[in-house]
Amino acid sequence: MLQVTDLKLTVTDPDSGEHTEILHGNSFALAQGESLGLVGESGSGKSMTLKCILGIEPAGARVDGAISIDGTDLLAASGEALRRVRANDLALIAQNPHGALNPVLAVGRYLIEGMSDARSMSPADARLKAADLLRQVGIDDTERVLRSYPHQLSGGMLQRVVIAGAISGEPKLLLADEPTTALDVTTQAEVVAILDEMRRERGLSMIFVTHDLDLAAAVCDRLAVMKDGEILEIGTPEQIRDRPQTEYTRALMSARPQLYPAGHAPAIDAEDRS
Ligand SMILES: Nc1ncnc2c1ncn2[C@@H]1O[C@H](COP(=O)(O)OP(=O)(O)OP(=O)(O)O)[C@@H](O)[C@H]1O
Ligand SMILES: [Mg+2]
Repeated sequence: MLQVTDLKLTVTDPDSGEHTEILHGNSFALAQGESLGLVGESGSGKSMTLKCILGIEPAGARVDGAISIDGTDLLAASGEALRRVRANDLALIAQNPHGALNPVLAVGRYLIEGMSDARSMSPADARLKAADLLRQVGIDDTERVLRSYPHQLSGGMLQRVVIAGAISGEPKLLLADEPTTALDVTTQAEVVAILDEMRRERGLSMIFVTHDLDLAAAVCDRLAVMKDGEILEIGTPEQIRDRPQTEYTRALMSARPQLYPAGHAPAIDAEDRS
């Protein structure tokens, strides 16, 4: 459903007029229901890749290549067609949920405004649907949360609200940019599990951006390893783990801490920590 071909991004320094190419001609495709992990060190171009898909690259930047969703070329489309694809088919889940939520809007209002079918519903039905969305992302005290403003809720709770909102618009593609980095470890695991479950139940495609190769391997069908604006290799988690094609991927894997399945890390005695 998503086809990215030879994607290049060039920014221009407003003072010196100097051009810098940030993405160097990357290609990848995503089938309906498939999830792709974009992994790589800081500055490798993961977020910029998502921004190009969303059409929110930095002002004055130039995007070359092609990005199409179900046959609609996002770079060639303009005006209404483009707005429609971006509003209906894409949903971003960013690192900081506070950025996604309007601070002066209660959660209930936020969710209802994002629903694709809110206008055809009575306010009471829209409210019921909002509560139902919250239950689907593991929130039980829905009335309190619907009435709350973003500053009254924890980061983990807010990220669940953002996921609920993302899903309510019935997008085709979720773009998740380090969606759990700002959360504590336990909450991280819960939020990732919810995101994964929501996506699978609905057969949504997803691009999942993270530094964490193991997290990506756990929730993604394929991984793309990025470095300095380039995708070095793409493969299944098993291929990347067992037969890495580049030194960089090997280094990325050896740099990570020893991994255990979630919840199965061996206990460390105080004496062992020295
Ligand atoms: N607004 C901008 N204008 C020009 N260059 C930018 C801008 N934002 C980021 N860059 C550059 O683009 C490159 C890729 O940045 P990007 O944010 O995509 O990295 P990333 O892989 O998402 O890193 P991180 O893991 O830290 O989020 C970096 O070299 C960065 O310095
Ligand atoms: Mg980033």
